[in-house]
Amino acid sequence: MSEAPTAVDPRMTSGCAWIDGVYVPSAEARIPILDTGFVRSDLTYDVAAVWKGKFFRLDQHLDRVLAGAGKLRITSPLTKAEIRTQMHEVVRRSGLRDAYVEVVITRGVPAQGERDPRRWAPRIYVYAIPYVWIVRPELQEAGTAVVIARDTYRIPPTSVDPTIKNFHWGDLVRGLFEAYDRDAWLAIHTDGSGHVTEGAGFNVFALVDDVLVTPERGVLEGITRRTVLEIAAELGIPTRVGLVEVEELSAASEIFLTSTAGGVMPVATVDGRAVTADGMGPVTRRVRDTYWAWHEDPRFVDPVQYR
Ligand SMILES: Cc1ncc(COP(=O)(O)O)c(C=O)c1O
Repeated sequence: MSEAPTAVDPRMTSGCAWIDGVYVPSAEARIPILDTGFVRSDLTYDVAAVWKGKFFRLDQHLDRVLAGAGKLRITSPLTKAEIRTQMHEVVRRSGLRDAYVEVVITRGVPAQGERDPRRWAPRIYVYAIPYVWIVRPELQEAGTAVVIARDTYRIPPTSVDPTIKNFHWGDLVRGLFEAYDRDAWLAIHTDGSGHVTEGAGFNVFALVDDVLVTPERGVLEGITRRTVLEIAAELGIPTRVGLVEVEELSAASEIFLTSTAGGVMPVATVDGRAVTADGMGPVTRRVRDTYWAWHEDPRFVDPVQYR
């Protein structure tokens, strides 16, 4: 690591990246066009949040990205401790107090003519940018409008393992366009057999007969999803992680989406039908309030040393 500056470089305040051993403003960071992360989506990545100057559950994000790399048989160029250091460092250099911090591990650039992926040299890069909201907080109060995607099923887990966080977003982006075309903001995808999966950057929860349900399979095991399950246990709200039928969304008294990029996001309408009278149901509100309170709870946070 190069000598750490004591003051924030003004070029870094909208984001700082660390790539190939150098720190650059995130808008200037580049990867080679031959990197297989870019040309083949051959990578895994993770996104952790910094809120009020503290990482939330960073350890779990690090474990997930390294587990994903292991499943892909990519050897991370950095250890867990080294990735943690770089994630802290890009935030510190940016000076950002509320940040979206991404680490990407690609299989790298093949030597010319080399087809065997076992021989490629992996690349890792890290960046921090201002916190990203899938649904902006002022819009969360009123709840968001979603559709159940009719045109695109979630890519099957037998083709792309959704537990490895990935850039295979063709289905998810198609879902967003379907949502816009149907006067909504986001789409929930099914697996093609009538079961709920997830959407563009989020997991799905529904309150059905006073039980909070979320799909077990065909989804990324979100850190926010896990946090919500823990919050529910603490608040005494029954949960079920299993198959969730699309019809259960019609029967649900509350629905919310979860992501590191936006937290617990209430759903007001599904396919134009109102879920709750006022956009955000009482269980969603309790879970959401606790989620943000936990961002200041010493059990889960890792403060950035801005100096
Ligand atoms: C496809 C998908 N599902 C779910 C999530 C939510 O995961 P987390 O709560 O760890 O941010 C994400 C996050 O980006 C995602 O890309």
